[in-house]
Amino acid sequence: MKIAFYCFSGTGNTLRVTEKLKEELQRNGHTAEIFPIAAEESFAKTEEFDEIVVCYPVHAFNAPAPVLRFLKTMPKGGKKPCFLLRTSGEPLGFNHASGILPKRILRRRGYDVKGELFYVMPYNIIFRHSDGMAARMELAAEKRALSDAESLEKGEGKVFSNGPIRRLVSFVLRIEHPAMKAIGRRFKVTKECVSCGKCARVCPQGNIGMKDGKPKFGKNCAGCMGCSFACPKDAIRIGILNGWRVNGAYSFSGEPAKDEEVCDYCKKSYLRYFHEIGV
Ligand SMILES: Cc1cc2nc3c(=O)[nH]c(=O)nc-3n(C[C@H](O)[C@H](O)[C@H](O)COP(=O)(O)O)c2cc1C
Repeated sequence: MKIAFYCFSGTGNTLRVTEKLKEELQRNGHTAEIFPIAAEESFAKTEEFDEIVVCYPVHAFNAPAPVLRFLKTMPKGGKKPCFLLRTSGEPLGFNHASGILPKRILRRRGYDVKGELFYVMPYNIIFRHSDGMAARMELAAEKRALSDAESLEKGEGKVFSNGPIRRLVSFVLRIEHPAMKAIGRRFKVTKECVSCGKCARVCPQGNIGMKDGKPKFGKNCAGCMGCSFACPKDAIRIGILNGWRVNGAYSFSGEPAKDEEVCDYCKKSYLRYFHEIGV
């Protein structure tokens, strides 16, 4: 079986999970390839593949704008089986709403949406998880990838429905797409910037140019936080979202947090997620 993963990932979490699934499928004798969803590309050669998986992080209970744009460029599906894979910072039912528009677009283009896969990965905005939490999420992702690979092999999964409240909240929060374009233009760097250009290299939108050795932020920000997360000097200020800035890669390889080490905020929903998966 040949499986194509189309992946948008700002700070690497979604790509990390996608790679786990790819490896598991390859171990089971399948061919799997990952294609980044990038600003200027509109390829999606889906004809060569038996199944496709569209992978992205949840942004304000929605799919990021570049993912929606990409889906609209997909060739006609001819009933090809298709899955959505999401990562999110929190195990919230509302995150299911991030599939509403992608499923609609995919179905219109003739794809048969067979399942939705969910993984919790550390937040790249709002607050920073402990490395222990990140390591436990990693463990959960590794375990979940085994059963999800089976789902992909069988072409069978769970498709979630969303009630009117989730639909409404997700619709209202779609304001994030135009808002991020405006907010992203106002990103700034402090004097700690060492002109390394990493922000420009990691931006999946190609939205950051270097001018006189300093980053210049354009008008196509997708709000993925790749730039401020990756900055080695934590020198990027993200406008009105600055209080939520998270900088620096998580270490996934440490000791996973034990139940009693999980903070009060994370206790309820995260522990339920971990226990459900059995980690
Ligand atoms: C602009 C923005 C909005 C986000 N909104 C949500 C959200 O609604 N729910 C959630 O659980 N996580 C949310 N997150 C967290 C990300 O979904 C999560 O950290 C994800 O794993 C990041 O994946 P990536 O590293 O592939 O970009 C948001 C992150 C960003 C940058």
